[in-house]
Amino acid sequence: MRNFKTIIVTGGAGFIGSNFIRHIFEKSGYAGNVVNLDKLTYAGNLMSVGDIEKQYGGKRYFFERADICDFDSVTAVLKKYDADCVVHFAAESHVDRSILGPAEFVRTNLNGTFTMLEAVRSMWKDRKDVLFHHISTDEVFGSLGDQGYFFEDTPYDPRSPYSASKAGSDHLVMAYYHTYGLPVTLSNCSNNYGPYHFPEKLIPLMILNLFEEKPLPVYGDGMNVRDWLFVADHASAIYRIITDGNIGDKYNVGGENERPNIEVVNLLCEVAADKMGRPKDYYKKLITYVKDRPGHDRRYAINCDKLKKELGWKQSVTFDQGLALTVEWYMNNKEWVESVRSGEYRKWIDTNYDAR
Ligand code: NAD
Ligand code: DAU
Repeated sequence: MRNFKTIIVTGGAGFIGSNFIRHIFEKSGYAGNVVNLDKLTYAGNLMSVGDIEKQYGGKRYFFERADICDFDSVTAVLKKYDADCVVHFAAESHVDRSILGPAEFVRTNLNGTFTMLEAVRSMWKDRKDVLFHHISTDEVFGSLGDQGYFFEDTPYDPRSPYSASKAGSDHLVMAYYHTYGLPVTLSNCSNNYGPYHFPEKLIPLMILNLFEEKPLPVYGDGMNVRDWLFVADHASAIYRIITDGNIGDKYNVGGENERPNIEVVNLLCEVAADKMGRPKDYYKKLITYVKDRPGHDRRYAINCDKLKKELGWKQSVTFDQGLALTVEWYMNNKEWVESVRSGEYRKWIDTNYDAR
């Protein structure tokens, strides 16, 4: 088992990164330091790691505002903390935004990952007691028909600017392993859901619209299929991979929980009705079919047997449990929700940090 002294988590103020940092401190048994390196874009919110800052800030947890595209800043952070592991989450993550404005996706996901790789290569040189773990997506594999699964060796076939930029970043990571011998691992994960999810994505958007009895916009015929994984289970998978995964290997991470979007929305309506003391079908009248996403991938389905067999990982919650936990979290965390929806968290960031 690998044991690190200081892990740099890029994108640790985002949805999965913040949950991963929480997992490290509260569940993993890790005894070292964590540095959260984040540019704080619209998706980065320091409230998502407020509890960690309070408990571990300045002792074992540190925050550095930096852009992964800025070689000098990233190198300075690597040097300052003498980091021996990087877990690289930072990215532009929303497919719809990549359709509206692909440039930022190429810059952050492709150039940013390239810059991170160059920075660790120049810092670590030939060291083998270090690790660069890259977080990627199942979307790099393309779109499935009714049958079949994505395996680790499924050929790449990205179809949106987002997935193309992630695919390119995956190739760069593997190229640095093969060419320079940089110790890397890489994981391709399916759709995450859970606490601290930015409400532009399907599940949190639907939950918040439900609370306010606003329309629930379902793209196309609602029959596009995604595989849903509770975010805490993704976090535990990543920790298993960075400590025990084979260097140079890729691991698929999934929920083994495929659902058409309309089924997810119907389930959310039922969970919310139960929590709000409404009749079971009360919220379903809000479901509104809207224009489809251009190039909308039809189905994703992950085979994650390698991770389960080799590293003994498994999911800890069912979809029903995970959805109930998630709806409850959004009901009980109105301050976070309000700060995100009103943009208040951005004002706080802008007055506390110089915008780059
Ligand atoms: P997110 O959008 O919630 O968070 C992204 C974080 O990265 C934010 O804190 C943002 O401030 C930071 N960031 C963006 N650009 C940056 C830059 N140039 N420099 C430094 N920081 C920057 O994203 P997420 O949903 O938590 O996704 C995290 C990673 O996981 C991404 O690489 C994404 O591709 C991948 N992934 C996400 C999912 C999912 O379902 N959300 C599934 C599979 C893989
Ligand atoms: O598969 C992993 C990917 O999952 C990650 O790599 C991405 O970072 C993450 O954003 C997510 O991408 P999706 O496009 O699958 O997630 P999103 O929540 O945007 O959409 C999920 C499905 O719901 C998709 O089929 C589009 C549909 N949808 C989405 C929104 C926002 C709707 O029907 N209505 C909506 O309003």
